[in-house]
Amino acid sequence: MDRRTIVVTRRLPGVPWDDLAKRFPAGDPPKDGTMSREEFLARARGASGILCTLADRVDAELMDAAGPSLVVVSNFAVGVNNVDVDGATRRGIRVCNTPDVLTDATADLGFALLLSAARKVSDADRFVRAGGWTGWDPWGFLGVPVAGKTLGIVGMGKIGAAVARRSRGFSMKVLYHNRRRIPPSEEAGLGASYRDLDALLAESDFVVLCVPLTPETRGLISTERLGKMKRTAVLVNIARGEIVDDEAVATALAEGRLFGAGFDVFEKEPLVHPKLLSAPSAVLLPHLGSATVEAREGMGRLATENLLAVLDGREPPNSVN
Ligand code: DGY
Repeated sequence: MDRRTIVVTRRLPGVPWDDLAKRFPAGDPPKDGTMSREEFLARARGASGILCTLADRVDAELMDAAGPSLVVVSNFAVGVNNVDVDGATRRGIRVCNTPDVLTDATADLGFALLLSAARKVSDADRFVRAGGWTGWDPWGFLGVPVAGKTLGIVGMGKIGAAVARRSRGFSMKVLYHNRRRIPPSEEAGLGASYRDLDALLAESDFVVLCVPLTPETRGLISTERLGKMKRTAVLVNIARGEIVDDEAVATALAEGRLFGAGFDVFEKEPLVHPKLLSAPSAVLLPHLGSATVEAREGMGRLATENLLAVLDGREPPNSVN
């Protein structure tokens, strides 16, 4: 048995808890639900490694509680906005994530939200279940077309590119905005043209947000930016909730300044803005981007490899610092 301790904040797909527990002294993680902050702080004391999820905040307080023994924070997510990466770097702690294995799952869900919002799938489903359907209605649930329309992708990383590839089947024109313009050969491969953000918002029929949450992207989609979008447009968020002003989106939907919204993430999740909850043209999902068995098991495998690599003095497969 290794004398170093680790903290695993909950049971996770693809994380071989029994094997880890044989090697490291570690308290059993909760099977369901998130570990409370108090418990996380208490268990972190003197730990060498932490394997956690996006629901666990790894900030200065937590790293100070762990102390100098902590060498790795392995996040079961590609996004690391729950971790103070700069603080970790200053303390010599590696921060690792799980990219690639969830790219297709997340892009699929982005497209599912785009199609659902365009064609009012959730609203119509609720109508049928509520017994409201009395006969075929030529005026019922009229949506907006997808084929041949313009798709604006904000954030052309791996997930953004996978969304662009999916749009080929719908013969869409693809625009993108990114912190840095991608090389011309990649633009050509994806059939995507660069626009500044305001131009992208003005030209697109569908806007899909794929950017990480950073100080620059927090609050990116504000009332003012929504005002640049077409009234017939659909906004899809598969990135992080804090990128969008949810109240502004709900107001735009209610006032007919936006056709629809497909959100997998929310500003204050798991709390959803009440105005969004009552917006029939919003499709709302409980952060399911990576929720396929294959993707989640891949994330667990990677998160474990990252954790063990650092603890064993090897270079982890995916580190962000
Ligand atoms: C991530 O990995 O960042 C997703 O949001 C959760 O799977």
